[in-house]
Amino acid sequence: MKISRREFAAGAAGVALSAGLDPNSAGAQQRLRPTGQETLGPYYPVRTPASNDPDLTHYPGRQGRASGQLIELTGRVLDTAGRPLPQARITIWQANAAGRYTNPVDHNPVPLDPNFLGVASFRVGRDGSYRLRTVKPGPYPEPSGTIRTPHIHFDVTNADYRLVTQMYFPGESLNATDLLLSTLAVRHRDPASAICNRAATSEPGLLAYSWDIVLLT
Ligand SMILES: [Fe+2]
Repeated sequence: MKISRREFAAGAAGVALSAGLDPNSAGAQQRLRPTGQETLGPYYPVRTPASNDPDLTHYPGRQGRASGQLIELTGRVLDTAGRPLPQARITIWQANAAGRYTNPVDHNPVPLDPNFLGVASFRVGRDGSYRLRTVKPGPYPEPSGTIRTPHIHFDVTNADYRLVTQMYFPGESLNATDLLLSTLAVRHRDPASAICNRAATSEPGLLAYSWDIVLLT
């Protein structure tokens, strides 16, 4: 199916999403482009906490705070008509601030953080929204010798659809050379739609971002 420039733009910039697209408006005739699929990758967690807690800044059951830049990420899970998907579940996993996953197959020699697990799974709200708190993941080397730019992995399920993808941060110098992000365009995906947006922060020292996710239904 050929995608029009207007459809592409809507999905790309997330403008309609951020603006709170009204499904009944004329603009709703314009379908949102589904968020693109990526592979699970080697560090997909074998075990995921069942706590339904979207706060990754503490290791479950421990008191200390994870090292690194605190960030808050908000957004919504929508269908291609811009309607919220309140039944969606999100699992995220990411490297710690030094660039290492809490996964035995990650042999990056940088240290693990005893206060950071880097995995969480939770349901979205009734309006399809989510709000998570974590620390900004560090870059890390991958086997071909390039450096992965900071990113967060997402596994989003709704009904019979599953989206596995990665979200990136704006303004990162490594974005231009990242093995996956820099090849999105040639894989017929829009790089801008994979990069979150800066948002207004509610606390000193907290960086806020927003990123909406569009699922096929
Ligand atoms: Fe990764």
